[in-house]
Order: sequence, then C-alpha cells, then structure tokens
Amino acid sequence: MGTGRLPEPGSSLPAAPPPDAEKASPEPLTAAEITRYVVTAAVWAPSVHNTQPWRFTASGQQLSLYADIERRLQVADPDGREMMISCGAALFTARLALRSLGYLPETQVLPDPGQPLLVARVRWARRAARTEFEQRLFGQVRRRRTHRGGFDPVPLPRGLLAALRDSAARYGAMLRIIADDGRRAALAAAVQAAGRVQRLDSARARELARWAPAPGSARADGVPPAGYPARDEHTSPDFPGRDFAHGHGWGLPPLSTASLFRSAGVVALLTTADDRPPDWINAGQALQRILLTASTLGVAAALHTQPIELDWLRESIRTHLSDGANPQLVLRFGAVIQAADSVRRPPADVLAGSDGEDIKVSDE
Ligand SMILES: Cc1cc2nc3c(=O)[nH]c(=O)nc-3n(C[C@H](O)[C@H](O)[C@H](O)COP(=O)(O)O)c2cc1C
Repeated sequence: MGTGRLPEPGSSLPAAPPPDAEKASPEPLTAAEITRYVVTAAVWAPSVHNTQPWRFTASGQQLSLYADIERRLQVADPDGREMMISCGAALFTARLALRSLGYLPETQVLPDPGQPLLVARVRWARRAARTEFEQRLFGQVRRRRTHRGGFDPVPLPRGLLAALRDSAARYGAMLRIIADDGRRAALAAAVQAAGRVQRLDSARARELARWAPAPGSARADGVPPAGYPARDEHTSPDFPGRDFAHGHGWGLPPLSTASLFRSAGVVALLTTADDRPPDWINAGQALQRILLTASTLGVAAALHTQPIELDWLRESIRTHLSDGANPQLVLRFGAVIQAADSVRRPPADVLAGSDGEDIKVSDE
C-alpha cells in the first residue's frame, strides 16, 4: 500500500531542465481522459523482451493493472518473475503519470489474494502540486531506451549513484554497485555462461526468436532490430547481450562517432530481501524509477537477466555477489549516444472498462 508524492533524489544532482508539461492541461480532465493519459504513458515501461505483459481495466477514478499471463515467457520465466518486474515498472509509470497531472495515487499492490494476476489497484482523488523532479522523470518516459552494448569511458554525474540507490530503497529493494574488479569479472562470467547455455537450449532460443521480429516487421511488441547493435560490442569484462538477431545479422550499424574503447560502465545488481511476487513488483517499480532518474542526466542503462533466468546461476550470484539477497536484475550504467529505438502496442489494446464497455483511446 502506498499513497502520495514520489520524493526527490539527493540535492547534489545538477539543476533541472524545464519541466516537460506538454500534456499537463490546467483544465480538469474527466476520469476517462485521465485513464487514457495514464495508460498511454504506462505502456512505455520496460518489459522483458518487450512482451508488455500487462492489461488495464478502468472504473471511475480507479485503474486496475493485471499481469497478462498469455505474454509470460513460458520457458525463460516459468514463475513469472520477469513478468511481475515488468508490471511493477508499468505500475510506477502509471503512478508517475498521475503525479504529472497533480493527483496523489493511492496504490494497493496485490490487493486480492484470490486474483494473483491483479498486480495493483490505483485510485486517484486527492490532489497535490507535482514536483519539478516528478515532472523531469515523467519527461523521460517516452525518451528512455534500453542500451545494448558498451559505454563511453566517462564518469557518471556526481550524486547519480546515490540517487539510484535511494530509488531502490524506496521500494524495499537494494541497488548494489559491483565495483571490485574480481566481482565484476565474476558477474560478467555469469552473464557469459548464461548466454552460452541459452544459445544451446533450443526451447529457450526459439522463445527468444519469437520475441525478436525481423526488420520491417509491423509488430508492436518484441525487440526490433533498431533496438540492438548488429555486432556485439565487447567490453572488459565482457557483458554479452542477448542473441536477438539469431544469426541473421540484423541490428543497428555502429555509429561512426562511437569511441573505439567501450567501457562496461558502472555495474550493479538490483536485489530484494525476499523473492516472491510482491518483491518482484517492488523491484519493477524501483527499476523504472532508477532508469528514469538516470535518463534525466543523460545516463543510459543496459539490462541483463540472462543469469537470473537460470536457477543455479541466480543462486550462485545470491551467495557470492549479493550477500544472500535475491538478485533480480544485472544493470550497467553509462554515457552513450543513444541510437536504439523501440515499439509499443497502442493503449487501446491493453485497456478495457471494468464492466466490458469500450474505452476510446487515441494513440498519440
Ligand atoms: C524484467 C526485465 C528483464 C530484461 N532483460 C533484458 C535482457 O536480459 N537483455 C536486454 O537487452 N534487455 C532486457 N530488458 C529490457 C527490455 O528488452 C526492454 O525494456 C524492451 O525491449 C523495451 O525497450 P525499451 O526499454 O527501450 O523501451 C529487460 C527488461 C525487463 C523489465
């Protein structure tokens, strides 16, 4: 359960750019208009393989967010961990969209034990002025992109890591920076080992291929070739990306401006004390707050869940690299010229009225 404002990160962050107020109309909006606005933003949350495993129902000033089990990765994610992390990221984005309109979201996470796919109910009634930080975060929802590859060898802005750690802590999660060379190498080795296993496991490889459409595809989900480099950018230690192109040579050509030496960036683990659906949802909320906060300062993130999907590697990371806490995501942060693009299903595809009535949604 949570109510209210999304608090600011540390004051050591540089000054804010002007708020992105393009949609914040001063006129009161109807509940249907607010719903539309919130879902239009929420679909831009990150999700594993861009499966977008969510759907929403609306009733008056309340939105319910459900996990869409049909979109769960049956082979890679049998327990629904990554599905729930993805839904948690959508939940954070929905709440942030309400804040951008000056509403105080009242959130119940997993409100009904009889409906395990009902991730959260969010109501809005009371108002409080949005903060500049909330508005800056909201301005990144559409701009943020997952990065896949190395980073420019430049330091991160001062105060950023503290702000990212704080984002995790707000949702009971922990962002552990892996700074020690030996531990970085061990984590990289886990990502490499997982990649090898997953390439050789035909069921896993087929599932990944199903979420990696070919160039020119009209699909509005999955990871398009515009989202990853055509050639893996190697870093030291090496954190290889997923094999989305599965041998076709798809992907973005290298940027001529990219420096030759690519850094792995600042490596981190997002962990939770327990390892159940509420922890996964919280990890997802923390993840989206972390990604958007980094994005406000021009810092991109690469995400790796390859080793988390294999029980033995997840357990090895838990015991050797995260002090017994449960790893949910491997993250790398750094500066880079972003060329990646992504796609989303139109909000109308994921939103219905609670009693079956259609809610008209424009896809802006
Ligand atoms: C739970 C979760 C796991 C993810 N795992 C990976 C991963 O292993 N490799 C990767 O390149 N991206 C990963 N991603 C990022 C998604 O592929 C990405 O969010 C999606 O394709 C949409 O693109 P966008 O983030 O650029 O909007 C993950 C995202 C989530 C939420």
